[in-house]
Amino acid sequence: MSVSTAEFVVNKVENSRINEVDLANVQFGKNYSDHMLVAYYEDGAWKQPEIMPYNNLSLSPATTFMHYGQAIFEGIKAYKDPNGNPLIFRPYDNWKRMNRSAHRMAMPDVPMEIFVEGIKTLVQLDRDWIPTGEDTSLYIRPFMFAVDEFIGVRPAEKFMFIIITSPAGPYYNKPVSIFVQDQYVRAFPGGIGYTKAAGNYGMSMYPTMKIKEKGYDQILWTDGFEHKYVQEIGTMNVFFVIGDKVITPDINQDTILAGVTRDSVITLLQEKGVVVEERNISINEIQDAHHAGMLKEAFGTGTAASIAPIYALTYHDDKMELPPLEKWDVANWLKKELSDIRYGRKEDTHNWIVRP
Ligand code: COI
Repeated sequence: MSVSTAEFVVNKVENSRINEVDLANVQFGKNYSDHMLVAYYEDGAWKQPEIMPYNNLSLSPATTFMHYGQAIFEGIKAYKDPNGNPLIFRPYDNWKRMNRSAHRMAMPDVPMEIFVEGIKTLVQLDRDWIPTGEDTSLYIRPFMFAVDEFIGVRPAEKFMFIIITSPAGPYYNKPVSIFVQDQYVRAFPGGIGYTKAAGNYGMSMYPTMKIKEKGYDQILWTDGFEHKYVQEIGTMNVFFVIGDKVITPDINQDTILAGVTRDSVITLLQEKGVVVEERNISINEIQDAHHAGMLKEAFGTGTAASIAPIYALTYHDDKMELPPLEKWDVANWLKKELSDIRYGRKEDTHNWIVRP
């Protein structure tokens, strides 16, 4: 279907809630701006999307996604440039990934006119909700779920697509401690590891709870066959600086999310002339590099997490501590470079920035 922005029904709030939120000290994921977009898919077609006040939903207890998990989501951020104008970072890439997830989960494609134009319209409407402090943003959460009322297991025929937005501070306030997981498994080839299916996150809750009890922040997942090759961290992709090379697991086996921040990082590093290797990297290679003094930096990348330095990586009884952050050339440079582009302080030579 073709939906133009002019076709969005916009039902604005009577009274904004913005004064209830301290945007200068906002935390990640706890506040929601005034409006949301809702679109229904039924009888093989998307209906006219509606922008309405942020509100609770009313759904039947037999709604299928609640039982069988046919649900996917995305994460995107909007910022303000030095003149106070909103910028959205790479929404078309998230739109493409949303539809790769949708395809694997037997869900309909979301048209660009709903996904990207919907984000643009919402960001423009709720532009006052975009915080301006460093490391803050308006986090945009598009998601789709199956809404058939049916207890049997079959791909649904009715879906809801929603976009909410949330003024956000940093996901991680300090460098993270990572536990290398070799008991539980996140993904196998042929599975859904490369999608942003809700189930990928649901299945990680128990293993993550167990390692948090021991004081770690997140899991670094290993492959499901040998528990030998590292894959991704629960909330982000992972990079290692070994000697003068940057290494990140390759995403060709359907087990790792194709992160938009991951792609931005690889692009920026390659343009700077840094060697980036996308390949299998084993935990033993990382241990050997650490013991030889060659593991200089390790960091996660993600929309929510941005560039998240790792201060320690624990595999069995080997706690690999990384050098002090002041000595990190790569992650510190990347964080600044990426922030400068996202906040419109530096020219966007990649067409990553979309203005609403
Ligand atoms: C994001 O980075 O946007 C995500 O969706 C990750 C999620 C764990 C917050």
